[in-house]
Amino acid sequence: MDKYFKSYRGIFSDQEIAELREMCDNLTGKHISYITDKGNTDGNYIYVPEDQSIIQKYLDKFEQKTWGMFMYHPPYGKVIRHVDDAKSRDCCLLTPLYDVKNIAPCYFYDTYDETSLPVATCYYEYGKSTLINTQEIHNLENNENERHTFQVCFTEPILEMHRIFEKKYEVA
Ligand SMILES: [Fe+2]
Repeated sequence: MDKYFKSYRGIFSDQEIAELREMCDNLTGKHISYITDKGNTDGNYIYVPEDQSIIQKYLDKFEQKTWGMFMYHPPYGKVIRHVDDAKSRDCCLLTPLYDVKNIAPCYFYDTYDETSLPVATCYYEYGKSTLINTQEIHNLENNENERHTFQVCFTEPILEMHRIFEKKYEVA
């Protein structure tokens, strides 16, 4: 499943996740509906700090050129099947910010045909960070919980990032 996702432990400490959560607590109402390159909404709500220096210490963990953002999915929100717009986001590292059970998984598909079943399902867990391939078709359907993640975006392909992360972090 490496080509779709893989989870790692210990990239962000408990303390760092708590700090990011505190930032997220102050973002209520500030996330905006993401508009795709084609001008459509896709069900993702994002907050990209214009001044990335407020999250720089978290980005500095990585040697690659990165940028970060906070993503929000409202309860029962649905994200359509999509591949992310390029925008320096070949793969991204998602870290859940709240310790809730049943964080809605991300589903990967090999076709946009709505009747086709997922070829891979990525479950998230508080305390782990998951690298996902945004260039494969994916979607999600949120459950009753608000879903908040901190995301670090990379221009490198996912398999290259796995090679780097596997040397530095514990695979979860
Ligand atoms: Fe996406």
